[in-house]
Amino acid sequence: MIENGFHQPVLVDKVIEFLNLETGKVYMDATVGGGGHAGAILSECGPFGEVICIDRDPHAIEAARKWLTRFPESRYQLIQRNFSHLTEVLSELQTPRVDGVLFDLGVSSFQINEAERGFSFDNDGAPLDMRMSPSIEVTARDLVNDSGTSELAHIFRKYGEENHSYKIARAIEQARKTRPIETSGDLIKVIERVTSGTDIVKTKARIFQALRIQVNNELDALKVALKQAVDCLNPGGRIVVISYHSLEDRIVKNFFRDMERGCTCPPDFPYCVCNGTQKLSILTRKLVRPAAKEIKQNSRSRSAKLRAAKRI
Ligand SMILES: C[S@@+](CC[C@H](N)C(=O)[O-])C[C@H]1O[C@@H](n2cnc3c(N)ncnc32)[C@H](O)[C@@H]1O
Repeated sequence: MIENGFHQPVLVDKVIEFLNLETGKVYMDATVGGGGHAGAILSECGPFGEVICIDRDPHAIEAARKWLTRFPESRYQLIQRNFSHLTEVLSELQTPRVDGVLFDLGVSSFQINEAERGFSFDNDGAPLDMRMSPSIEVTARDLVNDSGTSELAHIFRKYGEENHSYKIARAIEQARKTRPIETSGDLIKVIERVTSGTDIVKTKARIFQALRIQVNNELDALKVALKQAVDCLNPGGRIVVISYHSLEDRIVKNFFRDMERGCTCPPDFPYCVCNGTQKLSILTRKLVRPAAKEIKQNSRSRSAKLRAAKRI
């Protein structure tokens, strides 16, 4: 197991297996984080393999830079960018095609542990920020204090799949009449006021997840990036995606299915109008999950789901 003190990479052996690494080929790690997976890829793809590393978080780029110094600089590039601009990055590097793309979605342990980023509901006094990149203008604090009740309820339902969405949104609206909701602790107190029972930890997690997804526009970026990743793969190249919740996994599953089927017309269309052709062949008929041993060593891996496919 490769560890870098920043983030322990999840399902690293499976990532290496499904990327089918070969020397002299170029890979992309679209979510480099602390460089755990990128380091493993560089170790395994021979002396002439290269990795293009992207992350939208400048702190992650710096951490990856430190972790990857043990490899020759000529073998990797570190680029701070949203992965929804993947094609643009490749065109800037004059590398139109790659042989594998990895997405390890969500936030890293490092981001969660940095209290001032506000990703965790365990850091009581942390400001409600949740931005993965400083260029994002609207923070979780802004959303919670400035959105209408229906808008907040919609975010909690859509991105948290939370049953008590409206009740929590209304409680937020009441609470902020007295004073703004500034910290994770302030928000947690409001949630606790209107929900109870054994599910309360899950409710808190769902509300924080929903705000994080909205702040970072995570699902739209993923949809855009998956298309770009497939289009930049050489024939035989691999796409590997690790997701951590059902909303992400559903997008990946449906996307792979559509790219394998070719036609993306709605099922009730009498004949094909999209003229789509098969672009992917799915390699993971069954979801790949971490073994019990990995989950014991790294509790963050417990919700990981890996899917992989090959470019036709
Ligand atoms: C789970 S961590 C990746 C950890 C990494 N695989 C490692 O081994 O250290 C996810 C990373 O993806 C980045 N990220 C999430 N959404 C992104 C996006 N749309 N564009 C670029 N990076 C993104 C986050 O900033 C975070 O650093």
